[in-house]
Amino acid sequence: MRRIAIFASGNGSNAENIIRYFNEGDHGAVVALVVCNRPGAGVIGRSERLGVPVSVMSAAEIRDADRMMKVMDEYEIDIVVLAGFLLMIPAFLTERYHDRMVNIHPSLLPKFGGKGMYGRHVHEAVVAAGETETGITIHLVSDECDGGRIVFQARVGLTPDDTPESVERKIHELERVHFPCVIEETFC
Ligand code: GAR
Repeated sequence: MRRIAIFASGNGSNAENIIRYFNEGDHGAVVALVVCNRPGAGVIGRSERLGVPVSVMSAAEIRDADRMMKVMDEYEIDIVVLAGFLLMIPAFLTERYHDRMVNIHPSLLPKFGGKGMYGRHVHEAVVAAGETETGITIHLVSDECDGGRIVFQARVGLTPDDTPESVERKIHELERVHFPCVIEETFC
């Protein structure tokens, strides 16, 4: 049974969906830990209610190799899933979890990726650019922001009436349907 750590910074709808999929089903892995860098983030309560331990760590603690590796070892983590995690991952973690760490990005990379492109900012840029479609990208994590080999993309059409809020709803629906299955297909 593979052991997953989810890293998240915010609301945690993806984290909750992934926890329910693996911990309430038979899919070859279990979510053993959630790491969050923001005290008070929604993901903390969502995870704890589902019985998953949460480690709230500051950016400095996450960059501290000894501290971070101790946590990963304690929970025997094989796979790391970034689900709305807004800090850069330190090199010692991308090395240790080379080919065993994925991120989800709420656009069709390489479009609308890079520094500052996260969450609602992405959807605002997509609407401002008059795009006729957008989507999600799930990719392996490398040292480059939003770089790393793409393992999956899904698309959704947009209309001139779409707003950043409606785009966000469409994206969350794609994430809900696809993210857990892609994790399973990639690692389990
Ligand atoms: C998700 O839409 C995810 O794709 C995005 O943040 C949202 C987190 O939602 N990630 C990024 O923008 C990373 N660059 P959630 O906290 O409800 O899962």
